[in-house]
Order: sequence, then C-alpha cells, then structure tokens
Amino acid sequence: MNHCQVIHGHNVRAVVLGLCSCSPAVLSAASVSIVQQRKLHNGLIPKGKGGRSSSSGIAATVFGATGFLGRYVVNRLGRIGSQVVIPHRCDQYDIMYLRPMGDLGQIIFMEWDARDKDSIKRALEHSNVVINLVGREWETRNYHFEDVFVTIPQQIAKAAREAGITKFVHMSHLNADIRSPSKYLRNKAVGETAVRDEFPDAIIMKPSEIYGREDRFFNYYANMRWFGNAVPLIAMGKKTVKQPVHVVDVAKAIINAIRDPDANGKTFALVGPNRYLLHDLVEYIYAVTHRPFMPYPLPRPLYHLVAKFFAMNPFDPWTTPDKVDRFHITDMKYPELPGLEDLGITPSTVEQKAIEILRRHRRFRYLEADLDETKPAKTVNY
Ligand SMILES: NC(=O)c1ccc[n+]([C@@H]2O[C@H](COP(=O)([O-])OP(=O)(O)OC[C@H]3O[C@@H](n4cnc5c(N)ncnc54)[C@H](OP(=O)(O)O)[C@@H]3O)[C@@H](O)[C@H]2O)c1
Repeated sequence: MNHCQVIHGHNVRAVVLGLCSCSPAVLSAASVSIVQQRKLHNGLIPKGKGGRSSSSGIAATVFGATGFLGRYVVNRLGRIGSQVVIPHRCDQYDIMYLRPMGDLGQIIFMEWDARDKDSIKRALEHSNVVINLVGREWETRNYHFEDVFVTIPQQIAKAAREAGITKFVHMSHLNADIRSPSKYLRNKAVGETAVRDEFPDAIIMKPSEIYGREDRFFNYYANMRWFGNAVPLIAMGKKTVKQPVHVVDVAKAIINAIRDPDANGKTFALVGPNRYLLHDLVEYIYAVTHRPFMPYPLPRPLYHLVAKFFAMNPFDPWTTPDKVDRFHITDMKYPELPGLEDLGITPSTVEQKAIEILRRHRRFRYLEADLDETKPAKTVNY
C-alpha cells in the first residue's frame, strides 16, 4: 500500500512526503510508526490530567451551540480539554461568551449556512464528534419545523457519515410522536427516524422540557408575573404531568455518551427524578419567587387565539399555539430506554436547582430569602 495515500494528519503527511523518496528498506522500517500515527491527529491523542489545558481526545463540532443548551455543552467539552468547532450564523461578537469556555485556541468559530451542504462538510471535517443541537420553538418564513428538525439533522448526519465520524449525538424530544397535536413534536419524531436511517450509530437524546437559567419553561411561567401573576392553564394544569430535567444533567449526559463506547446506536430518555402536575409545578415556581399564584382555566381554543396574537411577533414570540400544546402534553414514560443513571448521572431535583433560575424573579426584599421556607412541590407517580 502506498503510505502517501493512507496518512491523513497534516504533520504526518509532511513526514511521509519525505519518506516517499526514500528506499524501500527505510520505508518498511518506518511503516509501523506511520500506521500508528495515522489513526489520530496529534491534537486528538488524549493527554494530561483531564483539565482544560489537557487533551480529551475529542474534537467536536457543535451545531446549535449558540442556543440555551449549547453553552452548557461547550462548557463541559472545554473544561475537559476538547477542541470545539462552533458553526454560527450570528455576529461572532455576540457569542464571545463561549470563547473562555475552552483553552486558548480550542474554541473555533465558523460561519455556516444550514442549506449549504459544503458549509456543513467544512464545519465537521476536522472533528471526530458531531453534536446536533439545532432547534427552534417557532416556525419562521425561511425555516419551517420540517427544515429545522428533519432536513437539517438529516444533512448533518449524512455529512458526518460521509466524513467517517464515529460519534454523532442528535437532540430529539421526550414527547416526539408522529401523532402529537404539536407540529414541533411530530417533526421531532420524523427527524429521529431520518437521523437513524442516515447514521445508524447515532446517539439520540430525548430530554423532557429542560430547565435552567436561560430556559423558556420556568422563565416562561415566572414571567407571567408581568400579567399580574395571572397564569392561564388548560384544565388548571391538573391533567398534565411534567418531569422536567436540569440543563446541566443533559449536558453531562451528552459528554458521558460521547465517552461511552457502548452508547453508539442507543436512544436515551433524559428526565428529572420527579413527576409533577403542571399546576403544582407552576405553583412551586411562584412560591420560590415569593409571588401570589393566581391560575385560571383557559380553554384550549381561547389560549390558541391569544397565542396566535403573540406568534405574530416577527422576532422572538413569547408563546405560540404550538408551544401551548407542547407544554400541556403529559411527559411520556420510557422504562425500556436507558436514561441519566445509565450514563452515571444522578438527576438533580427541581427543588435543588429552581432557586438558580427563579431568584431574579423575586422582589428586592425577598432576594436573599431562604429556599427552605418554600414547601416542595407535590409529586405524582403516574
Ligand atoms: N429547551 C428545551 O426545553 C428542549 C427540550 C427538549 C429538546 N430540546 C431540543 O434540544 C436542542 C437544543 O435546544 P435549545 O433549547 O438549546 O435550543 P435553542 O436555544 O432554540 O437553540 C437552537 C440553536 O439552533 C440554531 N438554529 C435554529 N435554527 C437554525 C437554522 N435554521 N440554521 C442554523 N442554526 C439554527 C440556533 O442558532 P441561532 O442562534 O443562530 O438562532 C441555536 O444555536 C433543540 O433541538 C431542541 O429542540 C430542547
């Protein structure tokens, strides 16, 4: 076999170009070390004590890194010494908060266009891990749910397979279902199948609603304080059961799945430890913020009408009819699927983490109030 053809690393290629002009004896003597070197680029050989200045052996391209979950994933990758390529479509200066999450030169920004296959290929050509976090809660004129949840993941999965990537993580949703009333969730279900067909070894993550400081779940309900603390809930939220998961647990799950050789081809259901009625969960949110909780029942068609009005906002609509449906769907149970515990993570409870998100919704006089004063939310087991 011609050594010049089999070696891919840039530094190794330089050595081999020199070797090609040598005698066959020299070539055969060098072949052992050459074959060993071609497996990994220098920068991808794990070394060091595991901190941000070591090398984890991971070079990851994180599509959708500029979103809510993205910053936690990049942070987790950066702190173990990984190289992270961040394809973005916004101004680079808008995402400078991601830069210090890794060691010098390890966080690399790259413009991409989801419709340009070459730009997808370019973004992942130097990586050995690809993570797809692309998502959107509402449809825009340019991108429908089908584009964001089916076509784009499919294109990324295809490019990853063609580039010989072995680890591909795709974010789906716990309630993804082709029969769901939510278009978002129907497309998530189609996206899962499309990704699996394109990249059979993909690791598919199905988290429930994710909560964290920048979320659009706890903050969504807490922000209803601007409407006089009046919270509209379909059937008073007593027919919906939610099992939210903390964003750090989801980010840790992604990293642990990348490092687990047995995770390939598996689907993980990522949920928190407790199930709550939506009513009780929102009541707890208001208790932590020390604000009166004033829920009122709003029939679905009327809620949709109000949401349609908000959805006309051309920027970030606060809510949409689809979001109303999604939040009022009971979280599915998947006892047969592996979860956080199988990835070595003990899921955090809402009571442990809620204060991080909700303190900023408190009035000044309650800013420092103890969390212990708040009664934990009632849990259910159905
Ligand atoms: N948050 C949750 O509660 C939750 C629950 C279950 C599953 N998930 C899934 O987990 C993933 C990450 O969620 P998230 O909350 O972090 O989402 P997010 O905050 O909305 O971020 C989405 C990311 O996708 C990018 N994106 C969206 N449309 C794009 C397009 N047309 N072209 C290129 N980039 C595009 C965004 O880039 P820009 O910044 O340029 O817009 C952003 O980086 C999503 O797939 C979501 O559906 C989320």
